[in-house]
Amino acid sequence: MIATDTATEAEAERLLRALLHVDCEPGGRTWNYETCRAIAPLTFEINRIKKEKDAIILAHSYVEPEIIYGVADFRGDSYYLSLKAREARAKVIVFAGVVFMAETAKILSPEATVVVPDRNSGCSLADSLNGDGLRQLKALYPDATVVCYINSTADVKAESDVCVTSGNVYHIVANLPAKRILFVPDRLMGQNLRDELKRRGVQKEIITSDGTCIVHDEFGPADIAEARGRYPGLKVVAHPECTPEVAAAADFVGSTGSMMKFVKTSAAPYYLMLTECGLVGRLQVEAPEKVFIAGCRLCPYMKLNSLEKVRDALIAPRPDQIITLDEGLRLRAARCIDRMFELSPTI
Ligand code: 13P
Ligand code: SF4
Repeated sequence: MIATDTATEAEAERLLRALLHVDCEPGGRTWNYETCRAIAPLTFEINRIKKEKDAIILAHSYVEPEIIYGVADFRGDSYYLSLKAREARAKVIVFAGVVFMAETAKILSPEATVVVPDRNSGCSLADSLNGDGLRQLKALYPDATVVCYINSTADVKAESDVCVTSGNVYHIVANLPAKRILFVPDRLMGQNLRDELKRRGVQKEIITSDGTCIVHDEFGPADIAEARGRYPGLKVVAHPECTPEVAAAADFVGSTGSMMKFVKTSAAPYYLMLTECGLVGRLQVEAPEKVFIAGCRLCPYMKLNSLEKVRDALIAPRPDQIITLDEGLRLRAARCIDRMFELSPTI
């Protein structure tokens, strides 16, 4: 069924109501009635096919706003989207995010066909360590409890004792009985974890591998000092994948979900968001009264998602768009994620 002119116009108006305030777009794209009208037939078609195929779309907050507000059923951070994948009863899950997130959805919802719009949507953290690399590290520290950040491949999860996200890492590690923790694959989050445990008076040895996020490791304390000079009363909001120097100089450090909550409940007029620009787009939609000063960065992997690729993956996924996992490996990876759900605070 092709959308009628009236249906397309209604769809364009729906999109415009959501996207009107977004202005942190790659290439300086602006949202007005014409740009919304141009994509309306596509979002209309995707939403129709979704129902026909018994599919849902999960979107991480870093992907393009037309995916988040045009076609996604659930939008949020890694923890929230994992919960939604675990609860899902749909036949098909389209994961607009990066491959490790779609793998996590497949681990938690094995009956569903899980597809990714673009197979090249990797992640510098997940790609920094594989199962063999982790087995070698484990041989060096056989007494350590192995904690993997969710930004890791399924084979790394299968080799780990417990998985964590940016929202529950401090709580879970602080409460583990082991004194020695092998934390992979984010070296900077590992350093932030060491600092936070020290602040809480928790004694643990944290050993890390050497991955970093190519988006968050680029921010420096000089960016913060310069922005504070220009905007008195500015709040600096950072992700725990940033360097410890940035984390120490920020007003708030947390998952993308908790960063959003912080901004929405704070009275300050100006914000510097030390994270991916997609999150600023979400806040421009959901907290339009706040001012976000320039400073966010783009994740090239997240930006591989597009409405066209979402549609194609939904209609007839190519083999490279379908997530498949060996069942033994999936079960072992599921154990470490289930452990996270058991140990996680409500966030
Ligand atoms: P969140 O789970 O906080 O959204 O982080 C995911 C991520 O990839 C950050 O770079
Ligand atoms: Fe990976 Fe960094 Fe992109 Fe997040 S922002 S998906 S950690 S490369």
